[in-house]
Amino acid sequence: MTIKQKKTIAIAATGGTIAGTGEAGKTAVYHAGEMNVESILETIPMIQNVADIETVQLFNVDSNEMDEEKWITLANQLNELAARPDIDGIVVTHGTDTLDETAYFLNLTVYTQKPVVLTGAMRPATATSADGPFNLYQAVCLAASDDARGQGVMAVFSNTIYSGRDIQKVNNYKTDAFDQNAFGCLGYMQDETAYFFSRSFKTHTMQSIFALRRLESLAKVAVVYFYAGADEKILDYLAETHEGIVIVGSGSGNYNRKWMKTMEKLAEKGTVFVRASRVSQGIVFDDRVFDPMDVCIGANTLSGQKARVLLMLALTITKDVKQIRNIFNQY
Ligand code: SIN
Repeated sequence: MTIKQKKTIAIAATGGTIAGTGEAGKTAVYHAGEMNVESILETIPMIQNVADIETVQLFNVDSNEMDEEKWITLANQLNELAARPDIDGIVVTHGTDTLDETAYFLNLTVYTQKPVVLTGAMRPATATSADGPFNLYQAVCLAASDDARGQGVMAVFSNTIYSGRDIQKVNNYKTDAFDQNAFGCLGYMQDETAYFFSRSFKTHTMQSIFALRRLESLAKVAVVYFYAGADEKILDYLAETHEGIVIVGSGSGNYNRKWMKTMEKLAEKGTVFVRASRVSQGIVFDDRVFDPMDVCIGANTLSGQKARVLLMLALTITKDVKQIRNIFNQY
């Protein structure tokens, strides 16, 4: 019997700036999602020392073109790759703009203990000192690391390991563009080696109820921002076409009395509400002052866009507010 020395890592490519091209050497004015992943891999030949690589070019888009249909395609493809005994880990290349949403969606929907690692870049592939090749190299190293098994979906940027649940883009200019807000990071990479210092205690991957069946569709959920004087009629409008609405409120997920009354009226007709906060750190608990009728679920530490991901999945299982509240506390 031959013992397999090198791991096999599948790379599912979706586009983004990591695959972007522009004027040679420049970092600005480029188009994301233009190069295929094989061409990026040619710039990092040393990756062959780390793992045997299999690539799937799923899409090649700017991540602002990601949508529910592409998420479902991606999750189903990753579940197929993860179920193959010859694949040891998976890397997803992705644009940085909506990577936080995709990472959380996959964290909830991919049934595996195998490492799944997202990465991307802030500079296009044609820039001087492009950051994509090194991020991709480290993502493959992390996906091949035994320590990364069972950690849920992760992301790697600038030598840092983030959890799919908590990662946020916090800078739209620097190459070190990500953070977990108040929660730091899971660990660091030094060249090929991963050093973990913490883990996510929220339910993910193999424990997630959303990973147990093949996804076909998601519930329609909108996100709306509250600001001083915001017109509550936007809620009536959105409720016509959405099953759920996430409110990105002020402070602890708050809004004015007109919004509260409109939410109570719409909740009675079946719209499910979640309240997140436009403040990047802290936690949104359920609140009897801003929600005396108990119709609005606290998003916990999730951003508005991540709360939308969870509500879109939760509504495929139940419309019961108590059950959805439990889901928000658990995931
Ligand atoms: C994108 O999200 O596809 C464009 C921006 C980026 O990848 O940095």
